[in-house]
Amino acid sequence: MIKNFIPEGVSDLGYDEFEQISKLEKAVLNVFKNEGYRQIKTPAFEYYDLFSEADNSLETKDMYKLIDNNGQLMVLRPDATIPIARMMATHYKESDGDVKLMYLTDVFRRADFRAGEKREFKQAGIEYFGSASPQIDANLILTAEKAVSAACVGEIKIELGDVDYFNGFLKELMKDERLHSVDTRLRLKELVESKNIPGLKRFAEEFDVNESLTSVLLEIPLLYGNIDEVCDRADKLAMNPEMKAAVENIRRIYSETGKKNITADMGLINTLEYYSGMIFKIYIKNTGVIAGSGGRYDALMQKFGKKIPAVGFGLNIDVLYDSEKKSDVDESSVLTIALGKGRLADITIDNLKKAGITFPEYSKDSRKLIFNDSTGKYRIVFVKAVDVGIYVEKGACDIGVIGKDTLLESGSDVFEMIDLGYGKCKFSVAAPEGFRYDPKKKLIVATKYPRVAKSHFAKYGRSIEIIKINGSVELAPIVGLSDVIVDIVETGTTLRENGLEVVEDITDISARLIVNRASLKTKEKMVSEFMSTVREAAENGK
Ligand code: PRP
Repeated sequence: MIKNFIPEGVSDLGYDEFEQISKLEKAVLNVFKNEGYRQIKTPAFEYYDLFSEADNSLETKDMYKLIDNNGQLMVLRPDATIPIARMMATHYKESDGDVKLMYLTDVFRRADFRAGEKREFKQAGIEYFGSASPQIDANLILTAEKAVSAACVGEIKIELGDVDYFNGFLKELMKDERLHSVDTRLRLKELVESKNIPGLKRFAEEFDVNESLTSVLLEIPLLYGNIDEVCDRADKLAMNPEMKAAVENIRRIYSETGKKNITADMGLINTLEYYSGMIFKIYIKNTGVIAGSGGRYDALMQKFGKKIPAVGFGLNIDVLYDSEKKSDVDESSVLTIALGKGRLADITIDNLKKAGITFPEYSKDSRKLIFNDSTGKYRIVFVKAVDVGIYVEKGACDIGVIGKDTLLESGSDVFEMIDLGYGKCKFSVAAPEGFRYDPKKKLIVATKYPRVAKSHFAKYGRSIEIIKINGSVELAPIVGLSDVIVDIVETGTTLRENGLEVVEDITDISARLIVNRASLKTKEKMVSEFMSTVREAAENGK
């Protein structure tokens, strides 16, 4: 019998869905066509080197690799733009003038199956080669908006940034030679990109970054919202002409679009490294996810040895299709907060109460999972603590309160905005008293946090075997299941009472306020109001 299973992260499309999606794709491509773009196609197979050399933020483990008959390392296209840039760099002649290309293509990338992500997804987009001006960038953004409106009915929000603002800041920071490594730059980019304010504070402390640079660094991720206000503030903070030029560029592109639904975010830096200059993202209200993104990538063309200005964007077809199903439910006036039942939730609810946000029907003993506050503005939902991240990442909740331990282990893609200062403990490696690491022997580690344990020991290049345990981890080394444990330690009582001791500390932990990437922008006022209330309450509670 043939096994009729389908691999994870891919799906069949029945004819009803196929026809609906085809209709949507046609609507999108028609918009591009009417704007003068012509369709092309690049192969699904490309050389691995193309992507690893074009962008060092595209990680090897994120690509699907194959070895061809000649022993060449190939990948399934993990990005739509780089192959088109390759194609243009090979064939473009100056006499071609401006070239406007469109595509509808499958992209293959490692996905988080636990979060329902797909490893094969379809993108439709355009690329404009040959000229650069704020007007061309503005037109591209308007075309993106038209394409989204042609595909779905939801309200659209566009967010504009310029990577040169952050790059300009990096120039100042990199005057300090200790910060020169690629890893440090990528770590910093990741922290800014995920608006991880607690992480940025820690970074500044670790590298002893001076006060004036630290204050700009902590401000950049928070420079979002109304274009004029953000640009004025960003201009005041600018430390060199590059940063000032980026602000000016955003102002000019914005005025060229003549649109009202565009906001700015100076902390918007696509993790893909090939963008230079303007970048933007498109959100559809109520979906909780990003529908598309794009920007200028002249620097990528230079990597191919060509001086061809280039700008483009891609829309995620699945997101556009799914948004149709979600757009009936209007949740825009309520902020939903995910709490994991237990101590963190109790403290959070207490703090909110002190700040005047009360949930009249809530009681600790109730089995109800959803409670509205007395004004109808806020709703708390109780989920399992380990699931807070996924509820927020997927946009089912706008905000969440989660322990840093759980957040690290889940790896959820969210904005980590506030260290709430409560729920303090440590991640530690612990073992029976007197234990010493033996470098000649493989280390067996029992833990509820395999991801954290793996990344900790990877730093030493240590080979370890992980045994995933779901609780009472302290038992494992006592009964010989493991050599050590990686676990949270609060008072140290559990370790002491079981004859264990800390071998080394991994990191400090406390409760974090996390925010869904789209909600921060589509419910901007409500989210910032809630965050200031929480910040104040946390301050007062200290
Ligand atoms: C946590 C943790 C430790 C203990 C640490 O366990 O896994 O066992 O608390 O606290 P202490 O340092 O104050 O003793 P939890 O109570 O969540 O139960 P579990 O062992 O079933 O995970």
